[in-house]
Amino acid sequence: MLKPIIAFLIVSILSLVFFHSSYAGSSYNVVSLGAKAGGETDTTQAFLKAWARACASVGSAMIYVPPGKYLLNRSVFDGKDCRNNDIKIRIDGTLMAPSDYRVLGSSDYWLRFQDVNGVSIYGGTLDGQGSSLWDCKTSGKSCPTGAKSLTFESSKNIVINGLSSINSQLFHIVIDNCRNVNMRGVKIAASGDSPNTDGIHVESSMGVTILSSSIKTGDDSISIGPATTNLWIQNVECGPGHGISIGSLGKSFNEVGVQNVTVKTVTLSGTDNGLRIKTWARPSNAFVKGVLFEDAIMNNVKNPIIIDQNYCPRQKNCPNQVSGVKISQVAYKNIRGTSATQIAVKFDCSPKNPCTAITVEDVKLTYNNANQAAKSSCTNVGGKVSGLVQPTSCL
Ligand SMILES: *[C@@H]1O[C@H](CO)[C@@H](O)[C@H](O)[C@H]1NC(C)=O
Ligand SMILES: *[C@@H]1O[C@H](CO)[C@@H](O)[C@H](O)[C@H]1NC(C)=O
Repeated sequence: MLKPIIAFLIVSILSLVFFHSSYAGSSYNVVSLGAKAGGETDTTQAFLKAWARACASVGSAMIYVPPGKYLLNRSVFDGKDCRNNDIKIRIDGTLMAPSDYRVLGSSDYWLRFQDVNGVSIYGGTLDGQGSSLWDCKTSGKSCPTGAKSLTFESSKNIVINGLSSINSQLFHIVIDNCRNVNMRGVKIAASGDSPNTDGIHVESSMGVTILSSSIKTGDDSISIGPATTNLWIQNVECGPGHGISIGSLGKSFNEVGVQNVTVKTVTLSGTDNGLRIKTWARPSNAFVKGVLFEDAIMNNVKNPIIIDQNYCPRQKNCPNQVSGVKISQVAYKNIRGTSATQIAVKFDCSPKNPCTAITVEDVKLTYNNANQAAKSSCTNVGGKVSGLVQPTSCL
């Protein structure tokens, strides 16, 4: 007599708890769709199934990845036929790339979202398992180029919050041809000598923000490619790595410029560069205009402030040419710390297109752990200085 009542009560309580703790929209758990945790069995199909169902649903949808390791092959999450523009992907586990780098080979990407609108990723770890490919590359053998861990391409209204990316084969995160992308609390980690493992690469995109993140990697911490506008970077810690770089730009003649970039409250530790603008020594109609670098701390950075318009690796395809990229309205404000080389501020601009309206305000950089004075160097640059500036400006 009591049994059915107790059973009823238990079911009621369970459903109450479940209802309140679960997601209000439709939810797709990759494990329920066949994914086996453990990192040994390929789970690509379960993830693609979850994506297809979320896309086909109306109202907000959630794809849930429980704790555990999930092996995924190359995957495209295509939004072309997606009806849903509010898909949350909540990851409590780790997505693993195939450990044998020949599986992804030179396929360029591992996890790729394209033509999506309204996708948010919360939490999770992406493990690119890149170390065997790095070893191959550094040994000088011929190796595949590898795959970028996470790519968003031709997408809009994207959130990446609390995601970690470790040991990518190639770049960790790429934002290409996107609008309105908000990244926050992203943690990137790969060895300081891992080749081509840029942290975050942004290009051809408008309205990207990168907030409160940390980037330890072997190549550029953040690289900013052509046609990037309205980019905001704040509270980011970088190092090891090659620092924050606008460029390389101007490799091709017809290239869209970079405009309105703010880099604020960043710390660079032991990086090759701090705040860099880099262009090829080749003809180009590209430009960089309206950049603010404000409140940066440098800890033993090789080139804390640098504009380099003479990029021409191995002197191939550009000997005796000069950069066509026009750089103007770049402000450096309140930049402090130590340089690992004596030239802490270097403006090496194009003889054809001198840098104009460069402003330097309240800069204090010292050399050799503050034991020696640093120097600055200027070539083809104009602008003005205000506040206390050390090393003495050559502008
Ligand atoms: C990975 O995916 C590719 C196609 O994208 C396929 O050819 C290959 O067999 C898959 N490898 C594994 C190990 O699943
Ligand atoms: C510059 O970009 C920021 C976002 O990074 C945006 O809020 C601001 O409106 C942009 N300024 C102009 C003039 O477009």
